[in-house]
Amino acid sequence: MTDKNELAQIGVVGLAVMGSNLARNFARNGNTVAVYNRSPEKTHALIEAHGEEGNFVPSETIEDFVASLERPRKAIIMVKAGKATDAVIDQLAEAMDEGDVIIDGGNALFTDTIRREKDVAARGKHFVGAGISGGEEGALNGPAIMPGGPKESWETLGPILESIAANVDGTPCVTHIGPDGAGHFVKMVHNGIEYADMQVIGEAYQLLRYGAGMEPAEIAEVFREWNSGDLDSYLIEITAEVLAQKDPETGAPLVDVIMDAAGQKGTGRWTAINGLELGVPITGIAESVFARALSSSTAQRSAAQEGQLPAGTIKELDVDKSEFIEDVRRALYAAKLIAYSQGFDEIKAGSEEFGWDVDPRDLATIWRGGCIIRAKFLDRIRAAYDKNADLPALILDPYFKGELEDLIDPWRRVVVAATQLGLPAPVFASSLSYYDSLRAERLPAALIQGQRDFFGAHTFKRTDKPGTFHIEWSGDRSLTQTD
Ligand code: 6PG
Repeated sequence: MTDKNELAQIGVVGLAVMGSNLARNFARNGNTVAVYNRSPEKTHALIEAHGEEGNFVPSETIEDFVASLERPRKAIIMVKAGKATDAVIDQLAEAMDEGDVIIDGGNALFTDTIRREKDVAARGKHFVGAGISGGEEGALNGPAIMPGGPKESWETLGPILESIAANVDGTPCVTHIGPDGAGHFVKMVHNGIEYADMQVIGEAYQLLRYGAGMEPAEIAEVFREWNSGDLDSYLIEITAEVLAQKDPETGAPLVDVIMDAAGQKGTGRWTAINGLELGVPITGIAESVFARALSSSTAQRSAAQEGQLPAGTIKELDVDKSEFIEDVRRALYAAKLIAYSQGFDEIKAGSEEFGWDVDPRDLATIWRGGCIIRAKFLDRIRAAYDKNADLPALILDPYFKGELEDLIDPWRRVVVAATQLGLPAPVFASSLSYYDSLRAERLPAALIQGQRDFFGAHTFKRTDKPGTFHIEWSGDRSLTQTD
């Protein structure tokens, strides 16, 4: 239904699949939705195909679109992240009035969001960078939404976003994350965790396929079973679907005909870069970004495959298959736990750096539904932060510590097996090193400090007394206190 005279509670600019699905979701949930797209064909197509789903108010100019919104006006931008977003923000800010709210629902870089929020605020309007997760299906049927921006805009925006978000146990998967770029930052880390989660699933598949010699359909069954336990999650569920799928053309397992070069649009990379900038060891996330990059280095890979690199002694799997499957399940669980723990560390560090006051419990709550990393075990994460919001690390929560008791030996066995089989398992292995580094009483960092002092007089601290020290390496090797 369309009615030019009715004012809309919310507007959507940009009607590609994500935008039109979001607009339909608003309309289906009782909101009158203003819709606008730069080329009007998309607007017409939406109304034609789905106009009956609710109240849409289509416009062909941005001015008409703005005029069709009730005050304070609220418009969500769903255009390609980057320059297009800036152009639409500018047009909307021009046409809107004081107190109106512009929402960017794309995967924007949080530093862009901070800049945009400042600019829009200077023009008397509110700007909300909102991370939206769940893909096309989520946009239509209930995504997880992570809005940042000024708290006041949440007052008017909150109920509308709650009406379309996914819902778990009566709780909508949306909440105000924090000021300016907080929402997009958190969505960025969500995607980083998504990369790591997908990579560890991939590593588990690789080990079962090429280590235990299982066929994709058989592995699909294993994942299906795993999905009813600790690993219960959207990504495990779709993994079973993908592995069970046959190529409609050849009848071969689909996974065998898909090129093994993983793409990326950049959010995982941003998470890794930000982790480096903040000095947070998000090794699982960074390693999974590198794993995608390596997979796509096709020329280098084929050069290396042509017998150039010695493989050393490759052993066959020498354990019972069902035991190995269970070990792999536990290694996957452990590495996934590390990825989440590291992601929450990054969020904590970002929140402190930018003064956002992000509550980890909010994330564990809203990520339970709608988003790509939705998983049963987020309930456990929520419980962990409920008990102690200042946990030094998620893996130090008593429940997860207890889980790790059962996971650590299988995890070690799987990393050893991968090494002996000559199969890559970069996140399984590096996460275990991260874990052992955290546990280690002494790290070789002491030696590194010694080396730094040797070649650059960079000084070091001592374990036995305060102060900063230097050894006269090229002289008499005496100790001097520099501070
Ligand atoms: C989501 C997804 C979504 C998208 C990403 C990942 O939460 O709905 O993360 O944002 O799929 O862009 O894409 P890449 O794997 O291409 O980086």
